[in-house]
Amino acid sequence: MEEKKGILYLQETERRRISEELHDTTVQELVYLSQQLELAFLYMDKDPVQARLEVLSSRKYVKHIIDGIRDIIYDLHPISFDDIGWEASMARLYDSLAYNNDINVSFDIENPDNDDGVTAVSLYRIICEACRNVLNHSQAENMWVSMKTEGDSIRLRIKDDGIGFRQTDMEKHFGLQFIREKVLLLSGRMDIETGCGGTELLIEVPEGGMR
Ligand SMILES: Nc1ncnc2c1ncn2[C@@H]1O[C@H](COP(=O)(O)OP(=O)(O)OP(=O)(O)O)[C@@H](O)[C@H]1O
Ligand SMILES: [Mg+2]
Repeated sequence: MEEKKGILYLQETERRRISEELHDTTVQELVYLSQQLELAFLYMDKDPVQARLEVLSSRKYVKHIIDGIRDIIYDLHPISFDDIGWEASMARLYDSLAYNNDINVSFDIENPDNDDGVTAVSLYRIICEACRNVLNHSQAENMWVSMKTEGDSIRLRIKDDGIGFRQTDMEKHFGLQFIREKVLLLSGRMDIETGCGGTELLIEVPEGGMR
């Protein structure tokens, strides 16, 4: 029963995320685009040069919207898992963290052996969310991500040297709850240590442990 509730909760959390992302980015961007095209239409007779500029800028903006939608689709199911596997997916994640942000990133991540596929995607999503939190909230200079198989367990550690946080008032935040539920469904456990020296998220799940 608890397990079913966990799955329902995760579904709802993920849906809410997608709907918020579509609303906050894609829809807002399309509204802006439509205003830009409206402007181009108004300029068309009076100032054709300006109208042309508006259309050119709209065309660029459409490409930006398409990229955003691609990212949302990728988030829904990381296609690279099916195509290129765990290692290349991790390399892709590392590149996106290391090159787009002002933070030193260290990855030491093993391939999850004997994996059922679902565990790997779950671990991947957990790593993505934890890294997103470090980038968005920690103000850290360094972050370390490691994953190792020890005996029958996979041990994942995401650490930063940022400002830390207080674990209260988390109702409106979904990322950590999402991680907690995923770990629970993998029959694992998690622990967060956080303070003024930074944050460390420790997760342990049984190998191939999806219930
Ligand atoms: N590594 C971190 N360093 C500092 N603060 C953090 C870190 N991770 C989480 N937090 C704090 O914990 C809060 C809850 O994180 P959580 O991922 O649950 O929600 P969120 O990131 O705010 O929003 P979202 O629902 O989009 O994930 C954050 O708002 C932030 O204040
Ligand atoms: Mg978050």
